[in-house]
Amino acid sequence: MTEKSAKLTLPSGEELNLAMYSPSEGNDVIDISKLVKSGVFTYDPGFMSTAACESKITYIDGGKGILLYRGYPIDQLADECDFMEVSYLLLNGELPDKAQKAEFVDNINNHTMVHEQLATFFRGFRRDAHPMAIMVGVVGALSAFYHDSLDINNEEHRSRSATRLIAKVPTIAAMCYRYSMGHPFVYPRNEMSYAENFLNMMFSQPSHDDKPDPTLVKAMDRIFTLHADHEQNCSTSTVRLAGSSGANPFACIAAGIASLWGPAHGGANEACLNMLNKIGDVSRIPEFIDRAKDKNDSFRLMGFGHRVYKNFDPRAKVMRESAHEVLAVTGKQNDPILKVAIELERIALEDPYFVERKLYPNVDFYSGIILQAIGIPTNMFTVIFALARTVGWVSQWSEMIAEPTQKIGRPRQLYTGDSERLVTPIEKR
Ligand code: SDX
Repeated sequence: MTEKSAKLTLPSGEELNLAMYSPSEGNDVIDISKLVKSGVFTYDPGFMSTAACESKITYIDGGKGILLYRGYPIDQLADECDFMEVSYLLLNGELPDKAQKAEFVDNINNHTMVHEQLATFFRGFRRDAHPMAIMVGVVGALSAFYHDSLDINNEEHRSRSATRLIAKVPTIAAMCYRYSMGHPFVYPRNEMSYAENFLNMMFSQPSHDDKPDPTLVKAMDRIFTLHADHEQNCSTSTVRLAGSSGANPFACIAAGIASLWGPAHGGANEACLNMLNKIGDVSRIPEFIDRAKDKNDSFRLMGFGHRVYKNFDPRAKVMRESAHEVLAVTGKQNDPILKVAIELERIALEDPYFVERKLYPNVDFYSGIILQAIGIPTNMFTVIFALARTVGWVSQWSEMIAEPTQKIGRPRQLYTGDSERLVTPIEKR
């Protein structure tokens, strides 16, 4: 990082020279870490202008609609690689060669089973429990089974925990669905690819042998790749903050899952499909566009807008291609929902409200259409997002823990509450 500096003159007249660092890509940063010594804090609710860490994993150019995993453009990775190669890349910084990939996949396969006692955790949930509630609980509970690999300062333990999480989340995610349906849990199959294995654990039945459709497997694998990581988004920041206290990785990922659940974040794919189903027909789109623009209405166009992208989300473009492929192979190319989505996108991209605010379709706009076409219920959409994002979360967590200067995250505040005052005894209150 090259050093520049920025001058800041405080009301007290103190002049500060703040170091600046230049990144390999993106915005320069101003180091304000010592500002507290001058008796002031910065103020940035929502971290609109704050770089909370240094990272080498993912880069987003919101203005140009660029997303790079370790420098590789997301559309190239989605076309040229599978999710295991992308997972290896995020964790290790380079794409694997054939031997490295084979070893990585073999290692993941050795950890896809979950402890039989974990299955009893599901019995405590009602069958209609939201699967994200189950995911938060069961993933957090994994730490109860792995005392042997929880020394986070031991690189081997970190790697083993990362492997266990990446390997087990599909198994747990599928168990959430099977439990909600009253179907028996399906064990992982090591001869299958990661995405094929997940769809098999989701939909195979003991009564007959049918393998997942290869087109659906490819679409599922691509969805995993597109959701794998995304810089310091809300849930990744949650994982980093939880991890900064030294909490074990299973608890940190459970915190990330909880954070992802919000409709403004990973819950948007479920909310988006519910919205498209509620719109139901292209004739009703104007009504919903008006509501999205109405400041007195809390309704927002789910799947639109992004904190960073002020251009098309590059993942949405890839997802849109996949949507057409999947709907064709599932015979749903005339699905009215797709018609609503395409017309909604067209109208919104022409409407001055959305154009002025640079609101474009994001990753969640088309993913729900694909997942629904594959046969995945809406309440499982964010579970799939969490499944895919686990590799990004553990990569970012590992990067943070390995950072020599890493310390516990502890933001300050702008306090506007009462100044010190005396307690009046209750008899006199
Ligand atoms: C994800 O951060 C990540 O990287 C997240 C993610 C990842 O991979 O981890 O990309 C995944 O979370 C994608 C985003 C999914 N969320 C949605 O689709 C929900 C709908 N979108 C909005 O909630 C919103 O766009 C956010 C939360 C995504 C971004 O909100 P910001 O950056 O805080 O922007 P804002 O709320 O300040 O909005 C700016 C303006 C406001 O209008 P004005 O006050 O300026 O008049 O745009 C308006 C907002 O009202 N606006 C919308 C809108 N999104 C923003 N108006 C209608 N519909 C929308 N969807």
